[in-house]
Amino acid sequence: MDDEYGGMKWDNLGFGLMKTDYMYTMKCGKDDKFKQGELSRYGNIELSPSAGVLNYGQGLFEGTKAYRREDGGLFLFRPQENAIRMQIGAHRMCMPSPSVHQFVDAVKQTALANRRWIPPPGKGSLYIRPLLIGSGPILGLAPASEYTFLVYASPVGNYFKEGTAPLNLYVEDEFHRAARGGAGGVKSITNYAPVLKALSRAKDRGFSMSCTGFVNKRNIEEVSSCNIFMLKGNVISTPVPNGTILEGVTRKSIMDIARDLGYQVEERCIPIEELVDAEEVFCTGTAVGVAPVGSITYKGNRIEYKMSNEVVSHKLYSRLVGIQRGIIKDNKGWVLKI
Ligand code: COI
Repeated sequence: MDDEYGGMKWDNLGFGLMKTDYMYTMKCGKDDKFKQGELSRYGNIELSPSAGVLNYGQGLFEGTKAYRREDGGLFLFRPQENAIRMQIGAHRMCMPSPSVHQFVDAVKQTALANRRWIPPPGKGSLYIRPLLIGSGPILGLAPASEYTFLVYASPVGNYFKEGTAPLNLYVEDEFHRAARGGAGGVKSITNYAPVLKALSRAKDRGFSMSCTGFVNKRNIEEVSSCNIFMLKGNVISTPVPNGTILEGVTRKSIMDIARDLGYQVEERCIPIEELVDAEEVFCTGTAVGVAPVGSITYKGNRIEYKMSNEVVSHKLYSRLVGIQRGIIKDNKGWVLKI
């Protein structure tokens, strides 16, 4: 295996960009049909200064991962879900989108072309980033005249530099992530820059992440780049998707796993005050996995949660990782061999 990796060291991989060998590009013109895409060496792309994505933010992204198993097999996790989410997002942003087959095929090709960058089992995964952008030039506000679907990849380990240590969240009630009727429910690139202010304020104060999207300054919605859950008794609750919450693939998978393990799962509005009585709080996302929350600070009050290997979020995550790594049987057709 060392030969395949060319002496690469995989310990302590974080979530930083490492340039890999290939990327995939597919274009769509005025007929709204994506034509045969192709792999090329990873590198910069050329864009008109008046491209729709640069001027009006007409763009979406996705995130999915490829895993290497003990027997050397390479697998993707539910890439069809990302494809469908991109289609829904494209509809919201007035963009044509690749078919589910085109999307999954592009992700597969990108993972296989960069297979030497898929870390050994237990060391991380290959994070695959599909992008759909309005690449055609436009001056007045209108949909772009041409679209580009791009897929690139980078090996990743833990999202946080603290590793898997519990997160300390800071609740932000000045800056919001998304509003009703906006594009918060789809993975538009325009949802992410508005979070940066809250995130940098939280980091400046020594916290790992910020909770944002606080509708009417009452209900908790999302954490900087992931979904949030709370546990009380046998009930696991997460904010109801009402157009401001991104329906994460990990979120959906964890809800299914929790139901299988006998928990009652609720999607509902969660007032911030409820977190005081929660037994556990945790975050989910493709990039972060399932991250336990150690504390939440809101209006100067700090709520602390107990931490151990016995916590429910750990049990849920172990099952998810077990399915992804082939240690637990996949009864749901979630993993895709490539
Ligand atoms: C992901 O979890 O894939 C995300 O989109 C988060 C990203 C902001 C790193």
